[in-house]
Formats: sequence, C-alpha cells, structure tokens
Amino acid sequence: MRILLIGLPGAGKGTQAGRLAAHLSIPHISTGDLFREHIDQGTELGQNAHTHIQAGLLVPDEVTIGVFEERLVRPDTERGFLLDGFPRSLAQAHALDGILAGSGTRLDAVLDLEIPEGQVVRRIAGRRLCRQGREHIFHIDFSPPEVAGVCDLCGGELYQREDDREATVRKRLEVYRSETAPVVDHYQAQGLVTTISAHGRVQEVLSRALDAIGQGQTDATGMSS
Ligand code: AP5
Ligand code: MG
Repeated sequence: MRILLIGLPGAGKGTQAGRLAAHLSIPHISTGDLFREHIDQGTELGQNAHTHIQAGLLVPDEVTIGVFEERLVRPDTERGFLLDGFPRSLAQAHALDGILAGSGTRLDAVLDLEIPEGQVVRRIAGRRLCRQGREHIFHIDFSPPEVAGVCDLCGGELYQREDDREATVRKRLEVYRSETAPVVDHYQAQGLVTTISAHGRVQEVLSRALDAIGQGQTDATGMSS
C-alpha cells in the first residue's frame, strides 16, 4: 500500500507511522527524519535544512523533493510505503503525483490526523526522542519512559527536539495552515482523504487508522480492536 499520513505538528504522525509501517511491513519515510539524519551527519544539505527547521519554516521544495526521491528509489519501497511529512506543499504534492504516475502507481489513501491546535503545544512540549532510534518516541506525561531520560526500547539517551520550543511550534502551525492545508484539499478532490481523530490513546488512534485502510483486526467476538 502507498499511504500518506498528514496532520498538524504533534498530531502523532511519527508515533502512528512507526506502528502502521511495522504492521503493514512497508517502510516509513519521514522527510523530517531524513533531514535530521543529514543534520547529525553534518552534511551541507543538513546545514541548509537546519536553518529552515530551526525557524519553523519549510525546507525549500527543490531540496525536499530531491531528498525524498533519493529515498524513494531504494528497493524496499517496491511493495509500498508510508509517507510522514511529505508532501507538505502543493509543489511537493504535484511532484509526488508525477513520480507515482511515472511508475504507473498512485497513493491508495491519505489519512488526515485531526487534533485541536490547543493540544499540539502540550504534546510537543513533552515529547522526548531517542538518539539511537528515530521511531522511539516518548512523552513525559502521556507515554513516559520507565527511567527518565532513557529509552525503554534500546537504552539510548532521550532528548528534546530543537524546533520544539513554543515560539517555533507556533510558526510551524502557521506554516501548516498556509502551505500544508491546501495539500489536504488537493487529495480530498481526488477522493483519497479519510479524516481520523488523533485524540485519545495511541492504540485507539492506531485502530482508527487501520480501520480506515481496511486493515482493522477483528477479535474472536468479531469486534474491531
Ligand atoms: P517533522 O519532523 O515532520 O515535524 P512535524 O510535521 O512538525 O511533526 P512532528 O514530528 O513534530 O509531530 P508528529 O505528528 O510526528 O507527532 P509525534 O508522533 O512525534 O518536520 C520537522 C521540520 O522539518 C519541519 O518543520 C520542516 O522545517 C522540515 N520538513 C520536514 N518535511 C518537510 C517537507 N516535506 N517540506 C519542507 N520541509 C520539511 O507525537 C508528538 C508527541 O505526542 C510525542 O511525544 C508522542 O509521544 C505524543 N503522542 C502521540 N500520539 C499521542 C496520543 N494519541 N496521545 C497522547 N500523546 C501522544
Ligand atoms: Mg514526526
């Protein structure tokens, strides 16, 4: 399957993408994570991206599309992929549509994770990430690690993202409204969008997402889990 997860910063895209991708056995492609890898490696592209990310702005389209294409050509995407954070401008959406059309494919579904803006700041302010595993995501209140500052999954050090300061988060929200909301409209016009409430426990949101793509599990009683 080829799925796009879209939604406000802090909606839970990364949290859900890791779980969905594992469930569906497809790679999770996050342009935010790809940029953070470049930043950690100190590449020129990383330095350029860092300037934009720190300011809460989008990295320019041509750079982002290049990074995305480089990732997409790896053989693990042949059976599908789960996109998290790309496309987030109309130019990127058109580029993606063109790339997929070129290989005779298209997106199967766009899941729009909906969360009130008021909850975003609290989610982001409490987020802690693992230095060793980009998909090991914690929250000091909602999913705290057993030992403060240490990843339960691999023992790595937990840290706070530099762009998670409140002023930067406010800017990211503004950019979402102006640049990314039109991408939802673009895919809505193609009949691909399902809006999912991102409110509630992580497992509940995951069940809604799986149901939306026809992968909901049923237990012995036939109830959707
Ligand atoms: P990116 O890394 O994609 O950040 P984002 O879109 O702002 O989203 P976040 O990662 O902040 O939130 P999320 O939805 O993944 O939430 P999470 O699951 O972590 O991009 C960063 C920057 O890179 C951009 O600002 C831009 O500069 C650049 N960039 C990236 N892609 C680009 C592109 N295509 N074009 C141009 N520039 C680009 O969850 C948040 C917290 O909430 C966690 O602590 C989690 O534990 C907690 N949580 C999650 N779900 C729940 C729940 N159900 N209940 C309670 N807590 C929950
Ligand atoms: Mg994320």
